Amino acid sequence: MATDYLILRARERGTEYVRINTEDYGRAFSVTLLLDGSCAKVAIKLRDGRTVKEEDITGVFFRQPRAPDPTGVVEKDDVPFARREMLEHLRSLWRMIPEHKWLNHPRLLMAATNKVDQLLKASEVGLAIPPTCISNDVGDVREFVAQHRVDVVVKAVKHGFYATGDAIEFAITQAMDDAAVDKALANAAVPMNWQRHIAKQYDIRLTLIGKRTFATAIRSQDHVETKVDWRAGDSQGIHLVHEPIELPAKVVERCRRLLRRFALRYAAIDLVLGQDGKYYFLEMNPAGQWAWIEQLTGQAIRDAILDELLAGPTGDTHEVS
Ligand SMILES: Nc1ncnc2c1ncn2[C@@H]1O[C@H](COP(=O)(O)OP(=O)(O)OP(=O)(O)O)[C@@H](O)[C@H]1O
Ligand SMILES: [Mg+2]
Repeated sequence: MATDYLILRARERGTEYVRINTEDYGRAFSVTLLLDGSCAKVAIKLRDGRTVKEEDITGVFFRQPRAPDPTGVVEKDDVPFARREMLEHLRSLWRMIPEHKWLNHPRLLMAATNKVDQLLKASEVGLAIPPTCISNDVGDVREFVAQHRVDVVVKAVKHGFYATGDAIEFAITQAMDDAAVDKALANAAVPMNWQRHIAKQYDIRLTLIGKRTFATAIRSQDHVETKVDWRAGDSQGIHLVHEPIELPAKVVERCRRLLRRFALRYAAIDLVLGQDGKYYFLEMNPAGQWAWIEQLTGQAIRDAILDELLAGPTGDTHEVS
């Protein structure tokens, strides 16, 4: 898990930290928010006797928290109400710790997840994007597909993970032919994200943390199975070469501007280098994974995260758009 991996490094560096697992709300820690006139105070009390106040916090690393679980704590019928109350208490706690201390603040993170918003803003800052048609209208999709001579991919509008009973399914990006287009359009009531298929040299993950950037090539074109979606290799035991690369300064600067548009201090951006020599923006992950990149390439992402958390506000996060 990325958080364990980060904590390992924090310990090695002797960085003082407190870990709060939100699913342990009410068991491992308690929270008091005091508001009195212009005075607002936060106290997080840990079971080991430590108390953390807002002024003690230099930086907060926020990573995919789980919901509190009041099962067994309150009557069965009251569980949904209790969980909602607990979540709101946590959201209020997030609100009382200034946004500039977070990597990233949940509010900014939530505001940065819409992919159309990302594509629009990426285009505004000068990044190339694949022609895109997000639709549940059969006629409009057919027109888009014809325009690109069926050289299109289809992917999820939000993200590809979904649960079926106990199993987690994963809809990956698919290249299409005429038959696949017909099949997909038989379910057109569900919107799909259709894009021109960019023939790639390789995939790129660009990790941005404050002023630091780490560009990594993912050699997706080395295997036929991973040419369209490199993640298809995961389930087939295919290990793709990952290597640090230098991106043109212009591309990096545009990605930095994109983060500033969303007031983010951290994001992992998915790009591809096309066979046409152009860099295309695909999406931005404001809470994206990074641990596997450091494990495969040795790029010092954990140190950059810890440095950024300890540095405090940099003052240049926001950009008025
Ligand atoms: N227009 C495209 N042309 C070629 N390949 C693409 C295109 N869009 C996505 N891919 C490939 O699909 C994979 C996943 O891309 P992307 O992150 O855009 O998909 P997603 O479904 O939005 O992802 P996520 O589940 O991470 O939100 C990558 O291997 C990427 O190169
Ligand atoms: Mg992605």
